[in-house]
Amino acid sequence: MAADELARDDRTAGRATTGAPASEAAIPFHSARQAGVTAPQQPETYLLSFDLPRTSAANGQKALRSVLGALTRTLATAASDAPPDPRLQGGGATRLTSLVGIGPALAARLGLNVPSSLQELPPFPGDRLDPRRSDGDLLVQLCAADRWTLTVVAELVGGAAHTAGAVPRWTQSGFLPHTPPGTTPRNLFGSKDGTANPDHAAAEQWVWGPPGGHGDGTVLVYRRIRMDVAGFAALSESRRDRAIGRRARDGVALSGTAEHDEPDIYAKNPDGSYVIPATAHVRLASPRFDGGARMLRRSYSYDDGPADRGLLFCAFMRDSAQFTRVQNRLAGRDALTPFLQHRASAVAYVLPGAASAGTLGEQLWT
Ligand code: HEM
Repeated sequence: MAADELARDDRTAGRATTGAPASEAAIPFHSARQAGVTAPQQPETYLLSFDLPRTSAANGQKALRSVLGALTRTLATAASDAPPDPRLQGGGATRLTSLVGIGPALAARLGLNVPSSLQELPPFPGDRLDPRRSDGDLLVQLCAADRWTLTVVAELVGGAAHTAGAVPRWTQSGFLPHTPPGTTPRNLFGSKDGTANPDHAAAEQWVWGPPGGHGDGTVLVYRRIRMDVAGFAALSESRRDRAIGRRARDGVALSGTAEHDEPDIYAKNPDGSYVIPATAHVRLASPRFDGGARMLRRSYSYDDGPADRGLLFCAFMRDSAQFTRVQNRLAGRDALTPFLQHRASAVAYVLPGAASAGTLGEQLWT
């Protein structure tokens, strides 16, 4: 399959995106859109954030070109069928995918050509963000079939970025449970997470763009959310399901009969109460409150010890204002909120992909 076809393949737009397809071929790095968003969600992830030294806009642009060149070469080589590093020659494809994004502060400092929707997120009620694990001028997300690959590639990426002038800011690893291809992975609360992702047409409307120069880019919102796993597990099954608005067992909305039935937030019980409770997560996150807008969620779990486990919420959308609207509703009323703490945050413009002989970020200077 040609790289561009892969990038626009319906299967890759959102739904049922986990697991490696039957073919074990490497996932092409060069494509219209970065494979870290379009390829099936891989079981392991590693995020790296970097800053660029503060300097004049002209020198900053030069430094950024140099870093993007180094990242393009490193990531393309690592994702190839035969990466030269012996540690990546395990006998099978590493199925490495990556994405590179630009933070809003850097874009503003250097006057880069990014969508106007790329903005810092506002503070939300209850946020307890650690600046040492948040933000950054450049964000790289690696995903692969196994942790070994990520450790090796993260080292190569870190080295290349550093040599080109970038300064490491934070890193974070995450993982998914073993999930058969085409099914939805679970998070540490036990729920299927990612069911209501957009299909191809909805992703074109709400995830990619705006059309024109940015039609193959998107905005990533990242939140490191600590979860009180034990506290949530102590609730009865029925209370847990009502907090989400879906049954943990099979992911079916309380108003439906199959996992991909859209939650009916208007359905009522004979006593007049809502079938999906007023404080249920899927009600408050419903696209019906946002003119139909959907985000593509590809979250991972993280485990940094018994007192710090949770979700690396990773969602792609055309405009981060969509996240802001949803998070403001959730922070106020979501039944999950007492069990969550948002501890880190970042937002980045995910660049369009690089053509065969091209470099990531060529559109930034136009
Ligand atoms: C640790 C925190 C979170 C957990 C455990 C969680 C869990 C879930 C689960 C189980 C679902 C239902 C299945 C699905 O459609 O994927 C869901 C749906 C959703 N969540 Fe979250 N979520 C969390 C944080 C967030 C945040 C911070 C946002 C955005 C501000 C968000 C936005 C959404 C949206 C948009 C949906 C789909 C609603 C629909 O279309 O029905 N979630 N989440």
